Amino acid sequence: MPVLKIYKYPDAVLKNKAEPVAEVSDEIRQLIDDMFETMYAAPGIGLAATQVGVSKRVIVIDISHSHPEIPPLALVNPVITFKDGEICEEEGCLSVPDYQADVCRFNHVKVKALDRDGNEVEVEGEELLARAIQHEIDHLDGVLFIDRISALKREMYKRRVKKLMKREEVNL
Ligand code: NI
Repeated sequence: MPVLKIYKYPDAVLKNKAEPVAEVSDEIRQLIDDMFETMYAAPGIGLAATQVGVSKRVIVIDISHSHPEIPPLALVNPVITFKDGEICEEEGCLSVPDYQADVCRFNHVKVKALDRDGNEVEVEGEELLARAIQHEIDHLDGVLFIDRISALKREMYKRRVKKLMKREEVNL
């Protein structure tokens, strides 16, 4: 199984709105397996297909490092059916390297999706799991966590990336 390339901000791929998956086929199962491997190699605790350049509504999450009771999750066509409470906490993203910022999200969500076998599942999550689900579904809609922070903070981050990109141009 190959480790896939993770696209990074400001790549336009990250703005794509992903298409629903018509059928959880072997191809989708392979994508899920590759996404898990890519996420673990990074390492990260969540990954959306958008981040590996695949415009399909597939996300994977594994927060077992801090929540061993929650198994790794692969969710196809995830849709939030319930949301409650608000909590603002620091967040990062494999597509937004070397940057963290406080993001306010719902503290409790329920999501309907298909699992790796194509069965309908409902997942309920609070705190980190709720945050991860919302962050990854955002990716499927072309939204990054830096789109959910203040305009001032976002501009500061964008300026830093521009500077870094310029520097790379001359670092041969
Ligand atoms: Ni992310």
